[in-house]
Amino acid sequence: MIIATTPAEATAQVSAWKKEGLSVGLVPTMGYLHEGHLSLITRAVAENDRVVVSVFVNPTQFGPNEDFESYPRDFAADSALCESAGVHLVFHPQPEDMYFADASTTITAAGVSEQLCGKSRPIHFGGVCTVVNKLMNISQATRAYFGQKDAQQLAVIRRMVRDLNMNVEVVGCPIIREADGLAKSSRNTYLSAEERQAALCLSRAVREGQRLMEEGQRDASAILGAMRALIEAEPLARIDYVDMVTWDSIQPCERAEGPVLVAMAVYIGKTRLIDNFIFPKP
Ligand code: PAF
Repeated sequence: MIIATTPAEATAQVSAWKKEGLSVGLVPTMGYLHEGHLSLITRAVAENDRVVVSVFVNPTQFGPNEDFESYPRDFAADSALCESAGVHLVFHPQPEDMYFADASTTITAAGVSEQLCGKSRPIHFGGVCTVVNKLMNISQATRAYFGQKDAQQLAVIRRMVRDLNMNVEVVGCPIIREADGLAKSSRNTYLSAEERQAALCLSRAVREGQRLMEEGQRDASAILGAMRALIEAEPLARIDYVDMVTWDSIQPCERAEGPVLVAMAVYIGKTRLIDNFIFPKP
């Protein structure tokens, strides 16, 4: 397995593969890899001749009061996991390798970026689009893999790839959960034992929303009201949002007439966690 730390090194290797006619799968990550990432990597390894995993905590997608500095990092563990999963190249740049000091170009996906996390993290999706675009260019990816846990991110990237005629297939993959339902996330490591228990209110709310929709409920306020009540019953939880939007244009909706995304962000203590479901299941 090759470890590349600059865009030039990564591109040189990938260009050689491309000359041989090989397909390249890209799994973009911020590291601290868990089974959610591993499910993306395993799928990429199965579907492509060569697989690139990027490990880069991207500063431009964090707001000034967010957790960029404290975001967990363990590159030794990440590269060992990649090696055992059959990854061919790990791209692990530093911010100064990725961004020119006088960079002028950024990407914004309007509309899809404005609801849900876009309201509380106004610069987030611009940073995500720009870095993912760069990673797709550097890796010359045939396919790129994203988890549905960041469902709005998946919709935003699909929109960017469509709008800019980018020659890459975006592959969305299901949420991976702990045995008790908690969605896997690198940020789960911030939780104390008590908060870890409290965090189960998110997946409980997901199940309640799914149950109501499976029983035929389509009214957003009824579904979201029941979900919010479950979360509010947990003293350590503070809701950022629990909302329903159209899938995959991420627009407000009051009734689920077509496919919808029901998504939430909830603080458990100081840790902001997200979870969601798409109905009907994609
Ligand atoms: O989902 C993430 O970990 C990040 O937003 C991504 C896609 C790697 C871009 O930095």
